Amino acid sequence: MPVQKGPTITLANGVEMPQLGLGTWPMNDAEAAVAVTTAIELGYRLIDTAENYQNERGVGEGIRNASVKREDLFVTTKFNREWHSFNGVKETCHASLKRLELDYIDLLLIHWPNPDQNQFVDAYLGLVRLLDEGVVRAIGTSNFKPAHLQRLINLGLKPHLNQIQLDPYHRRDELIELQRSQGIAIQSWRPLGCGNEMLSDPTIHVIADHHGRTPAQIVLRWAVQQGFATAPKSANPERMIQNLSVFDFTLSDGEMTLLDSLGRNDPQMLDADQFGH
Ligand code: A2P
Repeated sequence: MPVQKGPTITLANGVEMPQLGLGTWPMNDAEAAVAVTTAIELGYRLIDTAENYQNERGVGEGIRNASVKREDLFVTTKFNREWHSFNGVKETCHASLKRLELDYIDLLLIHWPNPDQNQFVDAYLGLVRLLDEGVVRAIGTSNFKPAHLQRLINLGLKPHLNQIQLDPYHRRDELIELQRSQGIAIQSWRPLGCGNEMLSDPTIHVIADHHGRTPAQIVLRWAVQQGFATAPKSANPERMIQNLSVFDFTLSDGEMTLLDSLGRNDPQMLDADQFGH
């Protein structure tokens, strides 16, 4: 049964973006094609991909095979470090458009800041040009830490959105405060912890049982209830429906505080000052 399509958030330039969409990592082209069509038919309107996922062709195929008009969908993609230059961004954008077989992208993101390369400012200026040209509707960053964002902000450049790893186990309080104060939308990746132990957490299970929901729904509700956008990955239609069905219940302040208290240090967490592609 199709679920109702979810709410949107408004980016700083007025563009409306679905708050919850489908993540596609680590699907290959064939898997992405099936999952994207299925998700759209179930009510998803945002699809999140990246050059690095190597599934943009599959995502495009999934979009073409679905019964929803292109303009009613929101497509995000991201580019790698080799394109961090004013002209490189234009080149990678057109390569993504070709793979997706689309004529515009809704949101184009710098995938990682790669501070060792020190070219993300040029890349961002390249994004501003694409926005002016109308090839993209909104622009932003992914995995930028406060210092990276601050560097753009100091130059008068403000991304519409910064997509980051963020879940009850991985709190990013300093980033969230900065993004909120600057009007940079917050979108989480790996919101379910990608099959790690978070979904088995006893505290999350107690809250899930109380609401008659699944642990995944509690974790997603924690995100959307505080205004974060997110894009959980699932290739399973039942879990796709479950993940989109988080707008019809509310966690109490006490439950939100309990979930907040699960934050911890994760030595495995990728550090954008050390890792990037
Ligand atoms: P599957 O594709 O078989 O549903 P994340 O978005 O945090 O990276 O998490 C994705 C992982 O979580 C995938 O392994 C996905 O598997 C699984 N997953 C997605 N939705 C749910 C759900 N509602 N409950 C449990 N696991 C889920």
